[in-house]
Amino acid sequence: MKPGTITLLALAFTLIPMGCGPPGRGESGQALSSATPTVEVTATPTEVSLPQIEGPVDGADASNPQLVALGEILYQQQCASCHGAELEGQPNWKIRDENGFLPAPPHDETGHTWHHPDEQLFEITKIGTEAFVGRGYRSNMIGFGDQLDDSEIWAVLAYIKSRWPARIQNAQPK
Ligand code: HEC
Repeated sequence: MKPGTITLLALAFTLIPMGCGPPGRGESGQALSSATPTVEVTATPTEVSLPQIEGPVDGADASNPQLVALGEILYQQQCASCHGAELEGQPNWKIRDENGFLPAPPHDETGHTWHHPDEQLFEITKIGTEAFVGRGYRSNMIGFGDQLDDSEIWAVLAYIKSRWPARIQNAQPK
């Protein structure tokens, strides 16, 4: 199970009784679940469960377990909706849609994320593909510079790289 999920479950169990009076079984079970605003349960854990990183972060170090753990949570929050929870990307990701936009590619070894050096991946994530490519290129890959600070971007990339087999990690251009 992922670290984020554990915290979320733990919080779900503590929040439900707090919000709705004495915990109970049977009849009260129904009232409990309908009276608990789900948004409270899902919004809180992200604040408390982010792993802390020691020292300054300057690079996508896939061998740093704290960085990778933070990156996994941020990836699931910010990237998984398009790039897939297992980094699998969207179906037919090589084929542009009717408006000329490419779907989100996989970030695992079947994609071409690993064809780019870290610095390029950082730029794409920070400013988005339109700004990165320039020349009026249109893309659904927005920049995350407003949502993620530089350390968090490195953390997400560290997580993505940690999922590549050693062979692919070594093949990535530096
Ligand atoms: C709204 C959907 C969406 C979200 C959310 C999203 N992406 Fe993307 N991403 C795309 C699409 C679409 C492309 C392909 C863009 C293109 O080539 O036109 C892409 C491409 C990329 C690329 C370039 C990959 C390559 O092989 O060239 C990187 C790196 C990337 N995304 C990282 C991220 C990261 C990291 C996150 C989360 C912080 C993220 N993306 C969130 C849609 C998304």
